[in-house]
Amino acid sequence: MINMNELLSVQNLVKSFSENKVLNCLSFKVDKGEILGVLGPNGAGKSTMFNILSSLTSADSGNVDFSGGIIPGTKEYKKSIGIVPQDISLYNNMTVEENLKFIGKLYGIRGKKLSLKVDEIIDEVNLGVKKKDYIKNLSGGMKRRVNIAASLLHEPKLVIMDEPTVGVDPQSRVDIWKIIRNLKEKGQSVIFTSHYVDEVERLSDRVIIIKKGIVVAEGTAKQLVSKYCKNYVYILQFYSFDDNFCKELTRKINIVDIDVEGDKVKIYMDYSSNILEYIVQTAASLNLAIKNIDIKKPNLEDVFFYFNMKGDKV
Ligand SMILES: Nc1ncnc2c1ncn2[C@@H]1O[C@H](COP(=O)(O)OP(=O)(O)OP(=O)(O)O)[C@@H](O)[C@H]1O
Ligand SMILES: [Mg+2]
Repeated sequence: MINMNELLSVQNLVKSFSENKVLNCLSFKVDKGEILGVLGPNGAGKSTMFNILSSLTSADSGNVDFSGGIIPGTKEYKKSIGIVPQDISLYNNMTVEENLKFIGKLYGIRGKKLSLKVDEIIDEVNLGVKKKDYIKNLSGGMKRRVNIAASLLHEPKLVIMDEPTVGVDPQSRVDIWKIIRNLKEKGQSVIFTSHYVDEVERLSDRVIIIKKGIVVAEGTAKQLVSKYCKNYVYILQFYSFDDNFCKELTRKINIVDIDVEGDKVKIYMDYSSNILEYIVQTAASLNLAIKNIDIKKPNLEDVFFYFNMKGDKV
């Protein structure tokens, strides 16, 4: 069942390739107008899940429910979703405009409406000056943007993007972030994967982390950080280090953990503690000169690292 705010509900997807169980009871939801970021290591099953949502592969079992009772695999479902595959699928010997017009026609858009729509989308992906250029002459980042444009022509309710920013230049990356945000502003939903955890944190309303075909964590980036990685890390570098520093400091304050590597000391603290004063005092009392102090706030990268380091226990 799907509630009023939800656009898509995926329940207990299972998929095996011979003996290899790639999806293992995968479940999650996407709300209307929501950006859902999907994180997972290589081989976690992200593209397989996307292929099932795109009706390119079928699941062995499980359900995909779409708002309005639209049934996956039907013509209406195909009109409701836009797919940006992991690999670029455009015609190299056609121009940007020709490619988009060709794809638009496949969706049944014709005549003046098609020309207007193609121009609008080309503007949206910031490729106005490349409209008449052949795909083969575009940079990787530009091709990615055309690939995204192709998925938006029919104004789908949900856009599924598999690694839309992989291997693109910084400018294209920023343009792609803008495209994703624009979709949300227009009330469309987006599911996307990326191995750049920073952009998943930056763009997503909610994040799911997939490992071995199952969702191991779900929430806003903030929720995930405060649940799994609440430690601030103080990274100190000394001109010359003395072990007594750690002994003294741990005597004075409650430390979660402390690591020493040569002249570098990492102090893991509960997020609410501010220990700078103690660090400086303790170092001064032992005549140790500090070369550098870095304070690292926990972020989604740490959460992802935490789940990757947990091995098979998750
Ligand atoms: N058509 C297929 N036939 C056999 N095995 C497959 C097929 N497609 C995917 N797999 C296997 O399923 C597993 C998950 O692959 P998938 O491409 O879904 O991972 P992913 O999370 O998208 O990884 P990446 O981050 O590298 O893109 C892998 O072990 C892969 O080898
Ligand atoms: Mg993949």
